[in-house]
Amino acid sequence: MALLVLIADMVPQEWEGALARLEEEHDVRIWPYFGDPSEIRYALVWQPPEGALTGFPNLQLIFSLGAGVDHLLRDPGLPDVPIVRFVAADLTRRMSEYVVQHVLMHHRRQAEYAAQQRDKIWRVLPQPSAGEVRVGVMGFGVLGQDAAHKLKILGFDVAGWSRTAKEVPDIPCYAGDEQRNAFLARTDILVCLLPLTTQTRGILNRSLFSRLARNGALPGPVLINAGRGGLQSEEEIVAALASGELWAASLDVFSKEPLPASSPLWEHPRVHITPHNAAVSDPGALANYVLAQIRSFEAGQPLENVVDREREY
Ligand code: NDP
Ligand code: OXD
Repeated sequence: MALLVLIADMVPQEWEGALARLEEEHDVRIWPYFGDPSEIRYALVWQPPEGALTGFPNLQLIFSLGAGVDHLLRDPGLPDVPIVRFVAADLTRRMSEYVVQHVLMHHRRQAEYAAQQRDKIWRVLPQPSAGEVRVGVMGFGVLGQDAAHKLKILGFDVAGWSRTAKEVPDIPCYAGDEQRNAFLARTDILVCLLPLTTQTRGILNRSLFSRLARNGALPGPVLINAGRGGLQSEEEIVAALASGELWAASLDVFSKEPLPASSPLWEHPRVHITPHNAAVSDPGALANYVLAQIRSFEAGQPLENVVDREREY
């Protein structure tokens, strides 16, 4: 029985060690050279072409290379076997680095100081303390909660919003559509770490931006999205930046990746753009994770981080 690896844009040198590690315990087949389809029992995938996973009659488990699984669930022909998403301390730390970095860049007005430096301008801008800035983390799961705790240590006034109610010491938690406006009304910097689902698609739009706090210590509301591009309307972000509904943004994910050169977001003086690398899955950590989960599965133990197909995450 074999493990199929199907990773779009895999850079072979970066994967050498991880593939060798997987091969210590499994017969690894790299797409599209999978040999006899009936021998494939497990699949490790990232952005597979539609229908790619049909035709493996003995497939028992699918591993997502990423924490998000929208790249899998969009395939109507996806086999009905458990999907295990990637959850690891390394990935979580990387995301928290990104979130803390970008919250601080807006809080400390880095884009404006960079522009001043280019023009050799020595001018001090108003600087609130972290405690005066309210950060709202939308998507309060594994990644959102870790980032929130790290922001809290820096002194920010942090809250979280999720689908189901939570209790987290020292962090006000909001849940569900009924508490969303109250959450937004106390948010100066909105950090989005939601999964892309039928419910969340397009949630980051002008109507939502207009509900963010307008009485904050920063010049205006800030959006940071490292969840998925499908959560946001880029046109509406551009319009909100022009109207002042948003003062600034950091975007790691886009509805079309790479972000087309024609997008006005590239040129906005207070928008930070990164190429969907807020938290990249480390191949070594991923290989160890997959091996441990397969060992549990084969020993009849429960799997961890299994996706709920009804919820879509
Ligand atoms: P989790 O499943 O742990 O957390 C998801 C959170 O979103 C949960 O709090 C969940 O609520 C909440 N949520 C889901 N649907 C809704 C809804 N309709 N309304 C309100 N809240 C909702 O996921 P992770 O934290 O591990 O990852 C989050 C996302 O981050 C991934 O799906 C992926 O898209 C993205 N990501 C991006 C990366 C990048 O490099 N840019 C890297 C890794 C991940 P509840 O707690 O009630 O279930
Ligand atoms: C993920 C990602 O979902 O890299 O892990 O975007």
